[in-house]
Amino acid sequence: MSSAVASARTHSGAPLRSGRTRTLHAARERGEIDAVRARRLLNALLRSLYLRDRMTARHSAAVARYAHELAVATGASVAQQRLVHTAGLLHDIGKFILPDSILQTKRGLSAKEWELVKRHPAASADIVSHLPGYEQVAQAILHHHERIDGFGYPARLPGNEIPWISRVISVADAYDAMTGRDSYSRLRSVDDALAELQRVAGTQLDARLVETFVERLGTTSVSFSHADDADFEAELALEHSFAAG
Ligand SMILES: [Fe+2]
Repeated sequence: MSSAVASARTHSGAPLRSGRTRTLHAARERGEIDAVRARRLLNALLRSLYLRDRMTARHSAAVARYAHELAVATGASVAQQRLVHTAGLLHDIGKFILPDSILQTKRGLSAKEWELVKRHPAASADIVSHLPGYEQVAQAILHHHERIDGFGYPARLPGNEIPWISRVISVADAYDAMTGRDSYSRLRSVDDALAELQRVAGTQLDARLVETFVERLGTTSVSFSHADDADFEAELALEHSFAAG
């Protein structure tokens, strides 16, 4: 009997599926369609970020690149490495909520403006949480400004309560904030920036991740020079290659 079922065919010659198999097949197809839609939405989001704010787009590409390199250096799984890259690209997407007077300023911010800036992780996470399949990325993004000593924002999570992906993003974020050519803060040399990362390891940043990052920069041939506009395209292409792989 089983062979009769197995060999049964529809009029078109396609194998006849049982009700359960049909349901599973339909669910898998729906999942695949959702994943394709989510990737297209992700692409549209990143393109709009690039058009709205080149500086944040460049920074996001740099953070995605450094964070991905760091994740690789820790020996994380390929799935984790990819999540880190995606989270790096999207971590500041919530800066859409900030006016140009804050986004483009080099002056110090008022207390009121800082309060608005501090809302960007929640805004980023809120946007990303609407992409099906990106819940873990949204969670990581929400906590990318937490600190190991528990004095970060928005939830003041301490130590390992901060998601690992968020801690990886934080190291990459801090490094680019000091070395990016359009940085808000004083531009530092690579050596100065690494020394500063080591100074805040264990209080602001995860000490083991900082150690790995510093080692990686000292031994790798990967260029960690400042990302320019073209790198945004390169990181988008890498992101798309994950989806295809
Ligand atoms: Fe941020």
